[in-house]
Amino acid sequence: MKKPYLVAPSILSADFSRLGEEVKAVETAGADRLHVDVMDGHFVPNLTIGRPIIDSLSKVSSLPLDIHLMVNEPARMISYFFSSGIDSITIHLEAVEESHKDRTVKNLLETIQKNNILAGLALKPKTPVEKIFPLLSYIDLVLIMTVEPGFGGQSLIPQSVSKISIIKEKLRKQGLDNVLVHVDGGVNDKTVSLLSSADVLISGHFIFKHNNYKEAISILKTGSI
Ligand code: DX5
Ligand code: ZN
Repeated sequence: MKKPYLVAPSILSADFSRLGEEVKAVETAGADRLHVDVMDGHFVPNLTIGRPIIDSLSKVSSLPLDIHLMVNEPARMISYFFSSGIDSITIHLEAVEESHKDRTVKNLLETIQKNNILAGLALKPKTPVEKIFPLLSYIDLVLIMTVEPGFGGQSLIPQSVSKISIIKEKLRKQGLDNVLVHVDGGVNDKTVSLLSSADVLISGHFIFKHNNYKEAISILKTGSI
């Protein structure tokens, strides 16, 4: 039997006027990690939060904080997050300039890891998963986006789902079973059955719009209602 998924509520769909309470509520309801979307209004057409709010979150919650960095040229910004008590920083492959892309990404991942933070690599739905094959030995987590990044509450793109099992299998073959595969976008009670190769389910709208966070998280953990 498959072990339960880890569940990471995405605070993008939380009530920001009560963010501390929302975070404590999902923690009590069984969340395993907290997913924090940082957007710059350029890589994606939306703006969200930065270091001050992340610092506040780390004070109210003992959950590991995963930072999903949706910003162009993340090298400009990653060090800004280094002393925030966070667990992981995930950068987007597409956010790095084309010239010497693999070398630049590798350097960024190593810089993150040198600061005792787990390093992740994210892919937009249209980016072929094979593009990260040369970089697998430098990462701690993969984030497969199943919606176009930028907004919560969108529908999962079915064509992006096959990448989850492909990357999981590739990691297994390379002896990298410790690299966790995260899935982000449109994850809910209806789509969870499609995501069986994933390790971590990120979910915003489904959890924070549910009238019972514990029930929502438990549906995702077990993959069934
Ligand atoms: C979208 C974000 C997601 C988003 C997921 O760009 O990366 O983390 O909050 O939200 P749902 O689960 O509502 O699709
Ligand atoms: Zn995200």
